[in-house]
Amino acid sequence: MEENNNKREEWGTKFGLVLALAGNAIGLGNFLRFPVQAAGNGGGAFMIPYFISLILLGIPLMWVELAIGRFGGNRGHGSMPGMFYSMWGNRWSKYIGILGIFIPLVITVYYTYIESWTLAFSFFSLTGKYFGAESRESMGAFLRGFQGVESNGYFSSLTPAIIFFLITISINIYIISKGVSKGIERLANIAMPMLFVMAIAIAIRVLTFGAPDPSHPENNPIAGLGFIWNPDFSQLTNGTVWLAASGQIFFTLSLGMGAIATYASYMKKEDDVATTGIATAGANEFAEVILGGTIAIPAAVAFFGIAGAQEIAKGGAFNLGFQSLPVIFQKIPFGQFFGFIWFLLLFFAALTSSVAMAQPAMAFLQEEFRIPKERAAVIVGLILFICCIPVIFFLKHGFLDELDYWAGTFGLVFCALFEVIIFAWIFRMDRGWEELNRGATTAIPKIFFYIIKYITPMFLFIILVTWFYQNAIDVLFMKNIASSDKLYVWGARVMMAVIFIGLTFLVRKSWRMKKGL
Ligand code: ALA
Repeated sequence: MEENNNKREEWGTKFGLVLALAGNAIGLGNFLRFPVQAAGNGGGAFMIPYFISLILLGIPLMWVELAIGRFGGNRGHGSMPGMFYSMWGNRWSKYIGILGIFIPLVITVYYTYIESWTLAFSFFSLTGKYFGAESRESMGAFLRGFQGVESNGYFSSLTPAIIFFLITISINIYIISKGVSKGIERLANIAMPMLFVMAIAIAIRVLTFGAPDPSHPENNPIAGLGFIWNPDFSQLTNGTVWLAASGQIFFTLSLGMGAIATYASYMKKEDDVATTGIATAGANEFAEVILGGTIAIPAAVAFFGIAGAQEIAKGGAFNLGFQSLPVIFQKIPFGQFFGFIWFLLLFFAALTSSVAMAQPAMAFLQEEFRIPKERAAVIVGLILFICCIPVIFFLKHGFLDELDYWAGTFGLVFCALFEVIIFAWIFRMDRGWEELNRGATTAIPKIFFYIIKYITPMFLFIILVTWFYQNAIDVLFMKNIASSDKLYVWGARVMMAVIFIGLTFLVRKSWRMKKGL
C-alpha cells in the first residue's frame, strides 16, 4: 500500500492541473448539448434554473468530488471504490464506488464514437465533401449516410465512420497510455489554449453575421442572444425545465461520473481544492454560456429564425451541430475553413473529456491490479472498442440513446447523491469541511457548509424522485420505443449489466488480493 502510494503519478504543474480539469469538463456538452437544451427549453426560461443548479449543485459537487479524489488519491486510490472505502470503511462502500468507474466507462463508449464524427466532419469540411448538400434535409441525408443509418448517394457503407472511429480510439489509447502528466496534461496544455482561440474566433464570426436575409432583418445573431438571455420567470414552476437544467450542469461539469475525482486523486495533499474547483467551473461556464451560447443558437437564429432554431433544437444536438451549422458554413465566405475550425474545436473539446472519462478505469487497473499503464490503456481501449461495435451498428435502433439515458443522465445524479451522502453524512461534514479548506488560498464561504450538508442532497433527492415520477416507468418499460427496436434496447441494457457485473467481480477480486486496504 505504501509502496503503491509512492508510485502514484502527480500533475506536473498547478496550471496544467487546472487546464486538464477544464479539459475534463469542457466537451461536447458545452458546444452541442447546452445550446440544444437552452433552445429546446425556452431560452431565457432555461437559464434561471441553470444558474441556480450551478450554485446549489454544480459548484458544491465540484468541491466534494475534488476533495473525495484528493483524499482517496493520497491513500493510493484513484478510482471511486477505493476512495469511498477510504472514507467510509464499510465493505458496501467499494461496491457503491463501482458507479464511479461504470458510469464514465459507459459514457466513453458512445462519446468516443461521437468524437470520431467531429474528426470526420472537420476533414469533410476541409475537403468540401458536404458542400453541395445545401439544405438541412440534404445535410441530414449526408449525416445519416455517414452514420450508416441509410445508404444514399453520399455514403454507401459504414467504412468511413469506422475508419475515423479507429483513428479516434487510437489517439485516446495513446494519450492515456502516456499517463497523467506526460499524456493528459500535455494534451491539455496544447489543446485547451487552441480550443479557446478557435471558439472565440467562431463566436466573433457568428456575431458579425448581421441579418443574412434582408427581407427578415429580425433574424440576426443579436436576436439569438436575446432569446437565451431574456429571462422568463413564468417557467420557474415547470419541472421539466428544472430537470433539463440540472442534468446539463452535471453533464457539462463532468460531475457524478468519478472523472473529476480521479483527476483530483493526482493532487498533492496541500493542493488547493477550493480555488481549483472555482477555476474549473468558471472556465467551463465561460466556454459554455459565453462561447457555446454565442455560437450555435445565434447562428441558427440568424439563418433560420427563432422558431427555426427551436425546431432544430427539438431534433437534438446532432441536428444542430452536424446538419444546421454545415448548411450555414456553405453560405458564408471561407465556409470550408470555418467548418473545419468548428469541428476541430468539437474534436479537441471531446478528446480532452474522453481521456478523462477513461481515466477512472485506468486508475482502477493500475492501482488495484498493478497493471502497467501501457497495458491498462490497451485493455480499456479494447473494452471501449468492443462495446462500441453495437453502438455503431445499431445506432438507429436507439442503442446509443439507451446508454446515454442510464449512464449519461440518470446515473450522474444517482452517483452524485452517494458522493454527497458519503462525504457530508458518513465521513461527516465537519471533517469534510476541513478537507475542503486544507490548502485553500481563499476560504470557501461558510454558507456552503450548509448547502453541501442539506441543500445539495435534498435537491438531488428531489430530482431523482421527480424523474422517477415523470418518466422512469415509461423508460423502464420502453413505452416510447418502437417494438422493432426493443430487442436492441434490451441489448444495451444487457451490455451495461455485463460491464457492471464484471466490475463487481474485479472489485471483489482486488480487495481479496489486498486483504483490506
Ligand atoms: N463534461 C463533458 C462534456 O461537457 C463530458 O462533454
